[in-house]
Amino acid sequence: MENSTLGRLFQKLWHGADYTYEQWLDSPDILADDLRLMKEAHCNVMSVGMFGWVLLEPEEGQYNFSWLDRLMDELAVHDIAAMLGTPSASPPVWLSKKYPETRRVNAQGQRQPHKVRQNFCYTSPIYREKVHNINRMLAERYQNHPALLLWHVSNEYGGYGGVQCHCDLCYSAFKEWLKARYTSLDALNHAWWTTFWGNRYSDWDQIEPVDEHGHGLMLDWKRFMSDQALEFYKAETGPLREITPNIPITTNFMRPDASLDYWRFAEHVDVISWDNYPLWHHGDDEAAAIETSFFHDLHRSYKQGLPFLMLESTPSVTNWQGVSRLKQPGMHKLSSLQAVAHGGNSVQYFQWRQSRGGWEKFHGAVITHLNTPDTRVFREVSDVGTTLEELSAIASSTNKAAVAMLYDLENGWALNNAQIPRSIGKQYQETCYAHYATFWRQGVTVDVVNGAADLSGYKLVIAPMLYMMQAGLAEQIEAFVQAGGVFVTTYLSGMVDETDLCFLNGYPPALRRTLGIYVEEIDALTDPQQGTITFREGNDLQVSGSYAFRQYAELIHLETAASVAEYASEFYAGSPAITVNAHGSGKAYFMAARTDKALLQDFYGAIIKSENLRRAIQPKLPSGVTAQVRENDKQRFVFLMNFTNEKKHVELGEDSFTDAETGSAVGQSIMLEGYGIRILEASINS
Ligand code: GLA
Ligand code: ZN
Repeated sequence: MENSTLGRLFQKLWHGADYTYEQWLDSPDILADDLRLMKEAHCNVMSVGMFGWVLLEPEEGQYNFSWLDRLMDELAVHDIAAMLGTPSASPPVWLSKKYPETRRVNAQGQRQPHKVRQNFCYTSPIYREKVHNINRMLAERYQNHPALLLWHVSNEYGGYGGVQCHCDLCYSAFKEWLKARYTSLDALNHAWWTTFWGNRYSDWDQIEPVDEHGHGLMLDWKRFMSDQALEFYKAETGPLREITPNIPITTNFMRPDASLDYWRFAEHVDVISWDNYPLWHHGDDEAAAIETSFFHDLHRSYKQGLPFLMLESTPSVTNWQGVSRLKQPGMHKLSSLQAVAHGGNSVQYFQWRQSRGGWEKFHGAVITHLNTPDTRVFREVSDVGTTLEELSAIASSTNKAAVAMLYDLENGWALNNAQIPRSIGKQYQETCYAHYATFWRQGVTVDVVNGAADLSGYKLVIAPMLYMMQAGLAEQIEAFVQAGGVFVTTYLSGMVDETDLCFLNGYPPALRRTLGIYVEEIDALTDPQQGTITFREGNDLQVSGSYAFRQYAELIHLETAASVAEYASEFYAGSPAITVNAHGSGKAYFMAARTDKALLQDFYGAIIKSENLRRAIQPKLPSGVTAQVRENDKQRFVFLMNFTNEKKHVELGEDSFTDAETGSAVGQSIMLEGYGIRILEASINS
């Protein structure tokens, strides 16, 4: 889709919610009440229809669009846009009963009953046909409807237990997928190293993806199921693309602990959207904020910086997180605008009106069972709406990063399954957050990219625990460093290729040349064992002192690299723990051990300084506070966000700012309330 067709979507910031009007059809007054309250809450968009299939098609082939017509018309009259859902996430019971093949089969071979939602088989031709039909009818009916802003395709593919289905249809599609990838069984047997424990296949039909011990097998099965969900998505969006070529399409992603490779999906959606449910007030709000920022940056990076939508968040609490605390005063605005700070162009909630029954009847909502706007939550929601209206100029701005973190979902799958000397607590994601944290604390923008990204525009690329390296990635990293880039990687990197086969002779050659080291052994420490790393006098980073390491410590040999820091304990005391290798015009650092926050902070702090990486504001930020920047040709917006419950005094340095909400001038320092946010604006002199 051309960027110009995204024009209407990116003209302003959006504020709204999932509105399940179909649950209230026997309460005739509710629509008018809701529309009035939506305006009062400064909402300009609603996500509608995604769980409404059975009301649109109560019996096979019998349709009733009257309720959706009424809803769409009324939204348009009230100048509220619709993100119109396609209903594939919740098939009607009649459909599951009449066409059993649409229901999934589990790994034990049992066909599942109709239950929950998002539980259909992605391969079933009948399901694809039924979805295609209903989507075609929706597209034909609403193609010229003034309320239609965006297609909200399905809901959270891969939710409720992932995407896996072990039916015959899926198995035969998997076989075809494997044939296309490997051509011959010999090639597959080699790639999966099936001679191990004597598991060689002599016929494609023998392959059963049920054995976690088969690493190559399970990795390909995950890839296949993710691809299958993508094929399903492409089939379901077919009629939308054909009939409404100018209406952009999204499907709501989740945090990528899901079973989908969203990088592949990203190529086929017009705008990225995701559902964001952090755990606030569980003890460490800074940690929760860093994690959430990381995921916002990831969702911005899926489409190379294009603004994304926060398609869901809770206006108050959830009912599925074990414990979900009320947001303390300020936190709602802070966490909502955190999305905008990182490149989000919407703040949307699940849900507008609280369900009266069913699984989510106690999930937070803008309008609760009390049925009144006279609530704390409604006032805070409405306040966010006002701010988003005032800040509409931000919609055309973007975030520019000089730093990229390589966070590869397939690497996460492979690493999780790997059996290594310390298989407990590998913590791939947590390690990425830990490396990201210093940049967050210093207000340095980071893109979160995968191995297929073009790295050439960055100054610094960080790749923690890059266990699996896809073909070509080591060469790309080498070219990046040779051209002057700085690269950082760690223990448990460069170990296997994309089929999970170990590299022989150490790293892939391009990475070994880039790092100038090789690994001989990996020591694993138990918890709470720890050792010490000491920086060498006069090292390249000018960091000094000793720091702790734990859990993983690799024993490495220098080839062309220099030692920056050394182990000061264990039998390998005196051997290198952090190295740097000058390569071409750039350099590459290697961290052989897992370290604590203190080392990462000083290490990356030194790199931020030596590489002169841009910080949102020059003075040091107080703890728990971050600053994020969005900019366009004319303005720079700096979001100052305090994720602690204490007041924080922030020095702003030399730049002159105005307050973006009030327009009034701001001095050289400001006070942020506990959980406070201020958005500052500066003109860019061209
Ligand atoms: C998900 C779903 C929503 C709703 C919320 C509840 O994100 O997409 O339909 O169930 O969770 O938090
Ligand atoms: Zn299936």
